[in-house]
Amino acid sequence: MSDQPVDTGKRTWLIASTCAGAVGGVAAAVPFVSSFQPSERAKAAGAPVEVDISGLKPGEKLTVEWRGKPVWIVRRTPAQVAELSKNDALLADPKSERKPDELTPAYARNEDRSIKPEYLVVVGICTHLGCSPSDKFIPGAQSSLPADWPGGFLCPCHGSTFDLAGRVFKDKPAPDNLPVPPHMYLSDTRLLIGEDKKA
Ligand code: FES
Repeated sequence: MSDQPVDTGKRTWLIASTCAGAVGGVAAAVPFVSSFQPSERAKAAGAPVEVDISGLKPGEKLTVEWRGKPVWIVRRTPAQVAELSKNDALLADPKSERKPDELTPAYARNEDRSIKPEYLVVVGICTHLGCSPSDKFIPGAQSSLPADWPGGFLCPCHGSTFDLAGRVFKDKPAPDNLPVPPHMYLSDTRLLIGEDKKA
């Protein structure tokens, strides 16, 4: 593997796909949503992506592509939101204070890391070496996770874990929380990923 940084653009997504594929095609279970996408040329230039979230049910996640990266939108249940504050002592950066300009816009620097507690919006690429973490929303003991697992994401490559606000647990290979991309609500059911000037 090269010494080049792996945290930007299409290169990272290639690495993520390769890495996930190596452990059994984990990424294949997460389809991209293609509605409301701009043209291929606009996407390549980094255009914002508009997403209809009206069909997303509590406890579900959808994935859209923005700047060649997977962006996850998770509609958290009230119970999942209520659990978030209980994780703080176990997290490496519970208040999202590290690299705020890079990882967490001001409007997401809160307990939920979101504009609306119900919806988590994060870039689904592990901050260690760029794999795509798997959904582990069900709490409790299970393979590769602790008995008191609260629900979140597990990176299959080296075992980093993230809670349902995309915050990394302590003493894991991943150094940072999953990045929150710029985003804003156009309405209750429409999100714009990649732009936040009204937020
Ligand atoms: S790439 Fe995720 S833990 Fe290493």
